[in-house]
Amino acid sequence: MTLRYGCVGAGGIAKGKHIKGYKGIPGVELVAICDSQERLAKEVAEAEGFKNYYTDYREMLEKENLDFISICTPNVLHRPIAVKALDKGIHVHCEKPIAMNATEAQQMVDAKNRSGKKLMIALNNRFTNHAWFIKRYADEGLFGDIYHVRCGWKRLRGIPGKGGWFTNKAMSGGGPLIDLGVHFLDLVMYFMGYPNPISVTGATYSKFSDNKCVNSSAWSMAGDDEGIMDVEDMAVGFVRLENGTTIDLEFSWASNIEHNENFYEIRGTKGGAIYRGGELTIITEQISTVVKIKPKLDFKAPINEFEHFIACIKNNEEPIAKPEEAVKLMKIIDGIYQSSKTNKEVILQEGK
Ligand SMILES: NC(=O)c1ccc[n+]([C@@H]2O[C@H](COP(=O)([O-])OP(=O)(O)OC[C@H]3O[C@@H](n4cnc5c(N)ncnc54)[C@H](O)[C@@H]3O)[C@@H](O)[C@H]2O)c1
Repeated sequence: MTLRYGCVGAGGIAKGKHIKGYKGIPGVELVAICDSQERLAKEVAEAEGFKNYYTDYREMLEKENLDFISICTPNVLHRPIAVKALDKGIHVHCEKPIAMNATEAQQMVDAKNRSGKKLMIALNNRFTNHAWFIKRYADEGLFGDIYHVRCGWKRLRGIPGKGGWFTNKAMSGGGPLIDLGVHFLDLVMYFMGYPNPISVTGATYSKFSDNKCVNSSAWSMAGDDEGIMDVEDMAVGFVRLENGTTIDLEFSWASNIEHNENFYEIRGTKGGAIYRGGELTIITEQISTVVKIKPKLDFKAPINEFEHFIACIKNNEEPIAKPEEAVKLMKIIDGIYQSSKTNKEVILQEGK
């Protein structure tokens, strides 16, 4: 069974991840690529061996009889492209964040349910070795009851392509909360089995839009001095979940901290975990003594994101990174933006 593949967007993540990820998987045929920049679409088609290239995704979806696509465009286009593709019976692997907000995300889930096709969100951190280990550790009950988690992704100076689409709210939906937040907030929710959020409180800050020291080039994304930066550069928040668990979070593209880091901390009744700086520490008790265990993270995660999506399509299985979970994630993110605007806690559902 050959699966005909198309990619929408030929920028950083398409070239760096999706095309590399699908190329070489037996039974996947690189059929077509689309980018609104024709030069780029043509260049990537030639370099990677796609048979055709397009500048309009609707034309590509119409003409190419594709089995599945990747969506690697600015966030504002995720929903329209996904809904169009799913309604045409095409499976979709969509980059994070799923969409601009929870309403759009739910429309994508509805389109998936209508079509019976697969929709997987590229929450790629779930496919890392540490996340694979911690998810199993949690599922085995080795943390006991998890009652609080902390997570964050903080940058000293690192606004992606300042003045480009990432910093333009109409194109991106927001700043580091929606960009980086989806990754590590997703991880802690995933470890806990995605309980429903009942309330959130948060604040966002925009303190670096005029800062000349901000180093955007680190993300090799062209900035634009004339462009817009109307998103936050830092967000903090506190979330209550239906099972009584709480989350404390902080995400930033720029802030006066010691160094860049992403992290999560898990507090459970039988044990805890800290992931920071690429290192994992488990805290538990053995022989009435507190012990710290350092799992060796020198193995390759057993599940590859791209091979997994192909297996889901071929075997009609549910993807690990489910869009229904991404809707919950977006409800939290929407709630933090709203809470910041109103200076009030936002109730997402009545507590149990
Ligand atoms: N999973 C991750 O770790 C990760 C990392 C980076 C980016 N991303 C996500 O990937 C997506 C793309 O980000 P990127 O860094 O590749 O951005 P990018 O700007 O490098 O690439 C986006 C591409 O989309 C093209 N495009 C814009 N409008 C289009 C349209 N109407 N039709 C077709 N193509 C169009 C642009 O010309 C550009 O080449 C975003 O949703 C982003 O959040 C995820």
